[in-house]
Amino acid sequence: MMEYRKLLLGTIVALGVAMGGADAAKIKIGVVLPYSGGAAQFGEQIDRGMNLFIKQHKAAFGRHEIELIKRDSKRPGGDIAKNAVQELITRQKVDMLTGFVFSPNAMASAPLITQGKVPMVIMNAGTAWIPSLSPYIVRVSFTMWHAGYPMGGYAMNKLGCKTAVIGYTNYPPGKDSRNAFATGFEKSGGKVLEAIPMGGPRQVPDFTPFFQRVKNAKPDCFYIFVPAGNHAVAVVKTYANLGMGATGIKLIGPGDITQDTKLQSMPKEAAGMITVHHYSADYKTPVNMAFVKAWKEAYGADTTPDFMGVAGYDGMAAIAHAITAQDGSISAAGTMKALAGWSYNSPRGKITIDPKTRDIIQDSNVHKVVFKDGRLMIEVIDTFPQVKDPCKANQIGKCK
Ligand code: PHB
Repeated sequence: MMEYRKLLLGTIVALGVAMGGADAAKIKIGVVLPYSGGAAQFGEQIDRGMNLFIKQHKAAFGRHEIELIKRDSKRPGGDIAKNAVQELITRQKVDMLTGFVFSPNAMASAPLITQGKVPMVIMNAGTAWIPSLSPYIVRVSFTMWHAGYPMGGYAMNKLGCKTAVIGYTNYPPGKDSRNAFATGFEKSGGKVLEAIPMGGPRQVPDFTPFFQRVKNAKPDCFYIFVPAGNHAVAVVKTYANLGMGATGIKLIGPGDITQDTKLQSMPKEAAGMITVHHYSADYKTPVNMAFVKAWKEAYGADTTPDFMGVAGYDGMAAIAHAITAQDGSISAAGTMKALAGWSYNSPRGKITIDPKTRDIIQDSNVHKVVFKDGRLMIEVIDTFPQVKDPCKANQIGKCK
């Protein structure tokens, strides 16, 4: 364990690509991810995604050698990530920063990257208005509105939910996901009976008292955002334990609550859940099937990528593009220019960086959890094609 951590946290020369001759410029990339504690599983997913891209695309970095300098952000609180970013900018003199699972960590670091003029390629943190905090932020993951807003309309129009209760983890992306769903749902004529904050992102709370309240309120739909991982498993277990499915309350949310890596740890009552998201390992496209196959070959037959893994993979594709587009002399302005409008045929489908917002444009898919071939899996039952962040598109709240 210690050895593994030392390896992760040390300075890793990822590869000397192609030729690496005397004039090959070395590009330093600071990677800020949770590598310890309950969220270490997220850091591992994103690392694996990044490494798989690098392994498969040795020529993608042109004549450049890239050096990944990894730092453990540990918690979602912002302070540790901010210190790491400070050190990466001032001492390591990184050319770019990437990673960032938790919104507060990206938010706390934003003033430093503006001051230091260091681009940040966000691989997860989903609060919609984050890119407005610095002109050097670009995001390859999603915003909470990519899922929450279309889910609102879908719940009313396709799932027949006239009433809903919202449960959310009480920190910025949770509040953002709550607002996204409520906006979409109410716009379609739905009524939100109650929005319940359900603890913070660090400790998985006992969800029972919150869910009991929802059971008594008897909404048609129960929309939940929690930050994936162990929180998501606990959500579905509590829903099952309280027999909520039998009462007709539909469990819905963003795909964070049906994360591929956690699906098999969930009880069979997960079948029937409807979520909206931009990725599942179960997508039956040639690009994704090849990606999943390569992932299993690299990391083991019993492993699977999930939405964080694909973000690490695509994020590294974005970084490779930014490097080769500038060939030789990397600047913050050059990186931002190269990424504006960048488009890629990802395992999740087509993705593009909106040059106006520096946020991603991608399909939002409606996922149904089914039990098939002896396991829980995701079936795509509908698609909202090429969605631009609805929070910015509709100029809502802090997205104005
Ligand atoms: C976030 O902090 O922005 C975040 C974390 C985990 C998720 C989604 C968003 O699953």
